[in-house]
Amino acid sequence: MRSLDEFAAAKLRDLETLDRRRSLSDSARTGPVWIERDGRRLLSFSCNDYLNLSQHPAVREAAIAAIRDYGAGAGASRLVTGNHPLYRALEERLARLKGAETACVFGSGYLANIGIIPALVGREDLVLVDALAHACIWAGARMSGAEVMTFRHNDVDHVAELLDSARRTHRYALVVTEGVFSMDGDRAPLQPLSQIAETHDAWLMTDDAHGLGVLGNGRGSSFADGAPVAVPLQMGTLSKALGSYGGYLCATTPVIELMKSRARPLIYSTGLPPASVAAAIAALDVIAREPGLTELPLTKARRFTALAGLPEAQSPIVPVIIGEESAALEASRLLEGEGFLVTAIRPPTVPDGTARLRLTFCAQHPDEAIERLAGLIRDRIAR
Ligand SMILES: Cc1ncc(COP(=O)(O)O)c(C=O)c1O
Repeated sequence: MRSLDEFAAAKLRDLETLDRRRSLSDSARTGPVWIERDGRRLLSFSCNDYLNLSQHPAVREAAIAAIRDYGAGAGASRLVTGNHPLYRALEERLARLKGAETACVFGSGYLANIGIIPALVGREDLVLVDALAHACIWAGARMSGAEVMTFRHNDVDHVAELLDSARRTHRYALVVTEGVFSMDGDRAPLQPLSQIAETHDAWLMTDDAHGLGVLGNGRGSSFADGAPVAVPLQMGTLSKALGSYGGYLCATTPVIELMKSRARPLIYSTGLPPASVAAAIAALDVIAREPGLTELPLTKARRFTALAGLPEAQSPIVPVIIGEESAALEASRLLEGEGFLVTAIRPPTVPDGTARLRLTFCAQHPDEAIERLAGLIRDRIAR
């Protein structure tokens, strides 16, 4: 249809003008930290495979064995016949790691967030979301039909102010934040948030996609500062430090049981391939066997920030804010010319005027490469 193509072409032209058009590049992983792109081998500082477990022999073998035992796909939703026996083992392991009663695995982190939030709150309720929260948290909050309010990034006083003024006119209230912010690498003030939520009878939910496996001895951001913080809804993903695919929620038994009857992506979407579930279990085994592994990404990120003259990393994610989209793309190209893959992140993923390089540090990044990259960023980009 002509009007359809004209519409798409006009949209693309607009995005191009703003330097916001995106495209897919074939990127073959050729080892724990290497990527092959356009015939070149690049050292990637853009993967969330923080412990490089997606490439670990035991994790790969577990996935292959699961395919042999159960086949390539789940065949149906978990509630029909897709609930293969590996789920139970994974959910028990996740719950134990997170100190929760029980857990529920979803098809992905994105699907978890758009399932969990609408299963808990609706029209008469309130959702407070951190201004820098991930797109899938916003999607879940909006889909819920609840009143959605934004609090300033990591601003506990603002959360208190909003709850003081709005809590009593809503039936239930949910406060959602990220344990580690995916584009900024900073951490949420979970202890005071938990207290404020408790005081106002609001439910605290953390998305710990980037905390699991790399903070708090691998248990995540609620365990990173000594005594565990009470977070009744601990959501996360299997696709980053665990090197697999899928999402999860750790919570009490009634909450998890409710998910099985109310979370639409769990009910109406096919269960994960057995290989993904088996790989996540094997990744948790590696972490349990080698607890020192979980410290390496943050140690490497801190080495980088010290050498590059940037504020000390709080997590394995380090942003280098550039500003304009075109300048961020140029900086990414410069690094690619030097053999590094560091993808530019542009609005609307990040706020206007804050296009950036987002670097992620992994267990197997060689120290010499980190030193060279820090020098390039210090001398040629972050001036
Ligand atoms: C904070 C956060 N939440 C959720 C997700 C989505 O997780 P998944 O990739 O498993 O869908 C991501 C991934 O980009 C993320 O960064």
